[in-house]
Amino acid sequence: MNIKDLYIDFFVSKGHKQIPSAPVVPENDPSVLFNTAGMQPLIPYLMGIPHPYGKRLVDYQKCVRTNDLDEVGDTTHHTFFEMLGNWSLGDYFKEDSIKWSYEFLTSVLKIPNERLAVTVFAGNEVLNKDTEARDLWLQAGIKESHIAETVEDNFWAAGDTGPCGTDTEIFYFRSDDDIPEVFDPEDDRWVEIWNNVFMQYNRTSDGKLEELKNKNIDTGMGYERIVSALEGVNDNYKSSIWKDVISYIESLTDVKYEDNPTSMRIIADHIRTAVFISADNSGIKPSNTDQGYILRRLIRRAIRHAKELNIDINSNWDTEIAKLIINKYKKYYDELSKNEQVVYDVLTNEKIKFNRTLEKGLREFEKVSNKDIDGITAFHLFDTFGFPIELTTELASEKGLKVDAEGFMKKFKEHQELSRTASAGKFKGGLSGNGEIETRYHTATHLLNAALKVIVSPNCHQKGSNITVERMRFDFSCDHKLTDEEKSKVEDLVNKWINDGLDVNVQEMKKEDAIKSGAECMFIEKYPDIVTVYSIGDVSKELCGGPHVKNTREIGKFKIIKEEASSAGVRRIKAIIE
Ligand code: ALA
Repeated sequence: MNIKDLYIDFFVSKGHKQIPSAPVVPENDPSVLFNTAGMQPLIPYLMGIPHPYGKRLVDYQKCVRTNDLDEVGDTTHHTFFEMLGNWSLGDYFKEDSIKWSYEFLTSVLKIPNERLAVTVFAGNEVLNKDTEARDLWLQAGIKESHIAETVEDNFWAAGDTGPCGTDTEIFYFRSDDDIPEVFDPEDDRWVEIWNNVFMQYNRTSDGKLEELKNKNIDTGMGYERIVSALEGVNDNYKSSIWKDVISYIESLTDVKYEDNPTSMRIIADHIRTAVFISADNSGIKPSNTDQGYILRRLIRRAIRHAKELNIDINSNWDTEIAKLIINKYKKYYDELSKNEQVVYDVLTNEKIKFNRTLEKGLREFEKVSNKDIDGITAFHLFDTFGFPIELTTELASEKGLKVDAEGFMKKFKEHQELSRTASAGKFKGGLSGNGEIETRYHTATHLLNAALKVIVSPNCHQKGSNITVERMRFDFSCDHKLTDEEKSKVEDLVNKWINDGLDVNVQEMKKEDAIKSGAECMFIEKYPDIVTVYSIGDVSKELCGGPHVKNTREIGKFKIIKEEASSAGVRRIKAIIE
């Protein structure tokens, strides 16, 4: 049986409810481009809002992390991974969490006790040493010399603000060497497989820790890691998860995995992530901004490495890899079967586009290569035409020219720094994403959704939304550009509802009843059986996790600042509240 199924079954047997994996692109959460951890979609509940499924939850969550995109190519980095997680929302705490983790690892996965080791929080000037966790591990059966203490690695927070707490990390000895008597977390034969966070604090924007309403448990186990660890491979791409994909790539070229593992890993990893992003119900397409830009880079980088392996890039190598991936994961993620053709189209169209810039880039290269190539020019070729430094260097050397690779790296790092700062900024925004301003915007989003149906067409449905403290962005299905009259009528209607001072009510109900009662929702299959429904007076009713203002008067004046195309059949409104 697959470890994902074993994990779910185990925690269900301990009274947990399985919740569906949230989409890779978060809805109504402007803070991050992608879900980066199992707890990400659960932040409002960790902060104290009751979850419709109850207090014990378990899932496997699709996650995408692209900060380390350039590190993919080694044995352990991936841009996509699945995180197995179990949560207690103010229910059980350290004792059961540790006891059950130990039981799952030793009784279900049959890991011998001596292959396990743990770290616990060592204590600092703010928080005491976690002797409780230490004692609980000893009771469970971990020997004393396999318990280490750290400060930095035993405190977990998703961002600068928001829910956080001390944690205990569990390690597995993945090596045929004799198991050391004393555990050293720095010895990389010990691989971290699971993190149990004792999420009892909220870090506020001034950096202080305040007690959360509940003492929560948040755990995360990397699926890929645990599989590789148990299979005893020290290269994740040699585990059973990747066997078919890597052999298929090998079959396309004379190159063997051992001769160029880097290119093969990049292709395998990037195509998999591209499959999950493009299959997501949010409908992301390659572009030059946000998620679309990540998708574009992933596909182009995979193409570039396919070229390096002398794969005929115009053949269907990419869609064939995608097919292997879809077949492997579709049992767990319905959207893969549903959006299979969309995935193939995204890959194929982007390849056609990249081939176009490739040609333009080559022409540009001819123009600039009458002398050695400086860093700025090399970066321009990279940035504008997607030319990797290797390609520029190769072309230059054929002409007997040199490339200032150092200058290129400098520009490249500056650029990376900029995008890191940008994504860090996004992250921060989100965790404070339940702040007062965002909450007002959130309710305004529901009013806009309702107003579009009245003024423009009952067929206008929400396709996405993104909120920051400065503005809201709302995507909706619509077959035409809104006229000025439509825009001002929509604006007026939203403002009328705001001025009417409508009460916002929340209700829990069965999903079928919610739909029957006419509540609006974006992706019905994604919701649990019991849902929360927010109504605003009698003008709007939507399935939603909240939070919202109590009365529309709190929103302020609503103003549309832009209306534009988002993608085929989808329009985008940007609006502010004053
Ligand atoms: N949220 C914790 C992590 O991602 C469990 O490691």
